Amino acid sequence: MADTNGKKSSESGRLVHLRIRRQDGRDMPETRRWEEFKVPYLPQMNVHSALQQIQRAPVTVQGKVVAPVVWEAACLEEVCGSCTMVINGRVRQACSALVHTLSPKGEVITIEPMSKFPVERDLVVDRSRMFDALKRVKAWIDLDGTHELGPGPREAPEHQQERYPLSRCMTCGCCLEACPQYNDSSPFIGAFALNAVRLYNMHPSGAMHRTARLESVMGEGGVADCGKAQNCVEVCPKEIPLVDSIADVARETTKQLLFGWLLK
Ligand code: SF4
Ligand code: SF4
Ligand code: FES
Repeated sequence: MADTNGKKSSESGRLVHLRIRRQDGRDMPETRRWEEFKVPYLPQMNVHSALQQIQRAPVTVQGKVVAPVVWEAACLEEVCGSCTMVINGRVRQACSALVHTLSPKGEVITIEPMSKFPVERDLVVDRSRMFDALKRVKAWIDLDGTHELGPGPREAPEHQQERYPLSRCMTCGCCLEACPQYNDSSPFIGAFALNAVRLYNMHPSGAMHRTARLESVMGEGGVADCGKAQNCVEVCPKEIPLVDSIADVARETTKQLLFGWLLK
């Protein structure tokens, strides 16, 4: 019998070798260590399903029974961003990382948590800083009460199409993991939040808070802190034009700075 790759399913006799960075809890760096596991290969398996197999039988290659590896996942279709981790040195989602492309000849697959966020346990990190950043830039459309508001403002389909790619952000953190400006000692807000400023300012209703959004990224940690290395756009799994968004927000903040008083 052949699978969809034309490979024989007897390949399932093959083992997948995983090397995983582990940590027992938050603020427990002394427990940081590597553990290795081998699990049966299944056609089309992804890193998420390999981790599930470890969860079922958490025994290392040395034969030691250990606590199951912990990670997050929800949608399993690269939409929620929760399974983001560093796989073979590249930040990406475990649910869309296919074993046969990562390890075509049975090479070891290394898996680590993202390094720019506090580790909660094993591969689970705390991304609260991202959600705080979205609050800072008012990444929402305000509703004036719960009464009937009538139809929303009209928007040309071309404008909607321009805005749509920007709306695909899943707050995964890849752009921050890859960004040299984003770290513990820097207040930089990050590419995804600057993209949110552009997205919501483009929306006919969201534009009501345009000035507040621009002002939120004009100070410390704002758009001026971007070093323009463009790593963010290289790793964004949703192919969001982040460099364009950053350039747009930089232009708009400059205009706001120079001519904002005219609008008051
Ligand atoms: S902009 Fe892209 S890489 Fe950054 S959080 Fe959103 S989806 Fe992830
Ligand atoms: S362009 Fe470079 S410095 Fe700016 S957000 Fe992207 S990765 Fe970070
Ligand atoms: S589980 Fe949602 S992106 Fe992977």
